[in-house]
Parts: sequence; structure tokens; C-alpha cells
Amino acid sequence: MNVLFFSPGFPSEMPLFVRGLAEVGARVIGLGDQPAGALPEVARRALTHYVQVGSLFDEAGVVRDVQRQLRGHHIDRVESVWEPGMLLAARLREALGVPGMTVEETRPFRDKTLMKEVLQRAGLRTPHHARATTGGECRQAAERIGYPLIVKPVAGAGSADTYRIDGPADLESVLPRIRHVAEVSVEEFIDGEEFTFDTICHDGRIAYFNVSWYRPRPLLQRTLEWVSPQTVALRRVEAEHLAPGIELGVKSLEALGFRTGFTHMEWFLKEDGEAVFGEIGARPPGARSVELMNYSCDIDVFRGWAEAVCYKRFSQQVRRLYNTAIIFKRAQGTGRIQRIDGIASLHHRFGPHIVGAELLPIGAPRRDWQQTLLSDGWVFVRHPDLETTLRIADAVGTDLQMYAG
Ligand SMILES: Nc1ncnc2c1ncn2[C@@H]1O[C@H](COP(=O)(O)OP(=O)(O)OP(=O)(O)O)[C@@H](O)[C@H]1O
Ligand SMILES: [Mg+2]
Repeated sequence: MNVLFFSPGFPSEMPLFVRGLAEVGARVIGLGDQPAGALPEVARRALTHYVQVGSLFDEAGVVRDVQRQLRGHHIDRVESVWEPGMLLAARLREALGVPGMTVEETRPFRDKTLMKEVLQRAGLRTPHHARATTGGECRQAAERIGYPLIVKPVAGAGSADTYRIDGPADLESVLPRIRHVAEVSVEEFIDGEEFTFDTICHDGRIAYFNVSWYRPRPLLQRTLEWVSPQTVALRRVEAEHLAPGIELGVKSLEALGFRTGFTHMEWFLKEDGEAVFGEIGARPPGARSVELMNYSCDIDVFRGWAEAVCYKRFSQQVRRLYNTAIIFKRAQGTGRIQRIDGIASLHHRFGPHIVGAELLPIGAPRRDWQQTLLSDGWVFVRHPDLETTLRIADAVGTDLQMYAG
């Protein structure tokens, strides 16, 4: 089983997927723009070969280089678990004659308007929306859909250039700020809590799934710096209030014809119990969410994914033992980390329920919290009981403080 893997060294979770592939017995050929020597150790050890290209975003160039450098090698799979590589991976499959998602099948996962159109045709509940490329089209769409609204890039990620708009004056103030975005989606604002529905499928069957809860809503996580955002992988996925979202997820995958790999859907739960589709990616969630899944069930989901894409099976037994939360920390102040307060007392209070922490060390420069949800570090906590998990997670939010200067 020879797997060509897109960008094995970056972002930071990619090496864990590469390792998963190697552990299930695949030979992994990396495709990246970093020099081989700059790859993280975990990735380097798991790769059997590496193709370095000039730029991963020059698609025609990559296809040409890969075809030239891999002449004579047989490739069984081309995998990308990073959003910017999805279409390129599909192009490479087509160019190399490898099975898996085609460009046509990938497109609705990359284009948020197209995605919603496919789901609407299947009768699934999506926010009312319109595509707009000019200020005039945005105004027209706003008139038709009504306020409050969300405006966001059609090919967005990380909530970049995403705005809530409460009236025409708001719209006028946002339009100049999104002038650099080629195409936006103007959408009905859905009020409610936000959850994920994540799956690993093979041959159109869901072999594993996870539901996480975002606290608070991602748009707030991304606008309020003082917030310590949480993602909570839920243990009781059979809870009644989650059922409409899970059903929406299952039907969305059917409508999109998804067959094999990881998927990550986000959905809204309105106060009246209705589930509304948010977005879906044909890839795993980022921001250490796969590790969150590992902690919840004491399994290795990286390896589970690898097994599913290589051999069309998921052999690990899934028992949901814990609710697991990851809490992202943002230091106060700017510059370099000067002081970290509270971690010792949290360990003392919650002992074994704090299962991992990776905080920037003293002296390290702060990360840009608007660019990366990972911010200045994170803590994993878990407990069989949800209320207790939330209490511990909130204590990490308030009692662990980082200071920069
Ligand atoms: N129609 C909507 N109604 C209410 N909130 C919305 C809507 N669309 C987007 N949002 C808010 O904006 C956030 C980002 O939107 P979305 O998930 O579509 O974009 P994204 O840039 O891919 O985000 P990310 O990569 O962070 O998941 C959502 O999680 C949600 O909080
Ligand atoms: Mg999103």
C-alpha cells in the first residue's frame, strides 16, 4: 500500500496522520514544499520517500513534478487531511489514475455555497444564503434574506473575514473590510449552540463518529481575546438534543456521496431543538480535535483513519469513556511569555483529570490568537461526567493565566 501524503510536515498535526499510516503498514511518500531536513522528526521517521516541490499551491507544477519524480512508482492512495490540499489531492488522483475522491466530488466540500445547494436539494436545513461578488450583490442579498446576517468567504477557514451584521449600517461598515475577498456567502444568522459531527467512513459506511461542542460559539471565540475557547468531545452521543444534528450529518454525507476518509461537519442547535447545517469538510477537524477523540475513548484515531483509508476497515473498539475538553489559553499582554500562574494548583485540585498540557514556555513569543485557535497553549481535561468536565474546563479557563510582556 503506497500512499502519497500531502504536506507531511505542516501544520503541526500532519505528522500524526503520517505516523498512523506507517503504523498500519503503508509506505508513505510525502509531498511538500519544505526541505526534507526541515520535516518534524515524527514525520521523517514515518516516511519512506519524500517529493519536494517548489510551491504546493502551484497545482499544475505539482502535478507535473509528481508525475516526473514518481515515474515507475505505483501509488495506491493520495491523501490530504489539510483543507488547502483537498483539491490538489483530487487532481493528483485523476492525473495518476488513483481511486478516491475526484475533483467534482471534492468541490462541494470546498465551496460553501455549492455545499449548501447540494444539501438543500436533498431537503436538508441550511441557513438561507446567497453568493455575492460585489457590494451591490451583498446589499441585494441582505434585503432578501433579512437581518441579522453573517457574511463570510465562500472558501473560508478559521473564521477569517467572517462578520455578524445586524443592520444596513453594519453592512456598510463591513463592506470595505471584505473588499479583498473575491466571493462571499451572505447568510441568515442562526442563533444557537454549535456542535460538530465528525466521522471516519469507508465505502460510504460510518465506522466511527464523534460529536464535539464548542464553548462559546466560534465567532465569539474568535472575537473576544480574553476568552479561553473550549472544544468538548461528548461522551453521551445518544443524548436526545444531539439526535437531530447527527441525523443531519448522516444525511449530509449521503447527499454529498462521501465514501472514504475523515469528515468534519459543524452544525447549529437552535433553542427550539432544530438542527441547522453549518459547514462540512472532507477532512478531520484541526485544533488538536483528533487527540481529543483519542482521550475520550483511549483509542488512536489517527491510526483508525489510516486503516480506513488503506484497508477499508476500522478495527479498534470504540467505547466512549470520558467527556474530554481542550481549553486554549491566550496570554495577557504582548510580546514574550513572562509568567504562567495556576497550573500547579490545577494539577493539585484535579489530578488525573488533567491529561495533557502544552503551554508556550517562558520566553517564547506569543502566537497570533486571531490566526490560530491554538493560541499560547492548551490543556486537555477529561471526566466521565459532563458537568464535572465542564467545571474543570472552566477552572482551567479562569485559574490558569499566562502573562506576556
Ligand atoms: N449562518 C450562520 N449563522 C450564525 N453563525 C454563523 C453562520 N455562519 C457562520 N457563523 C459563525 O462563524 C463561524 C465561522 O463560520 P464557518 O464555520 O462557516 O467558517 P470557517 O471560516 O470555515 O470557520 P472554521 O474554520 O473556524 O470552522 C461559525 O462557527 C459560526 O460561529
Ligand atoms: Mg467552521
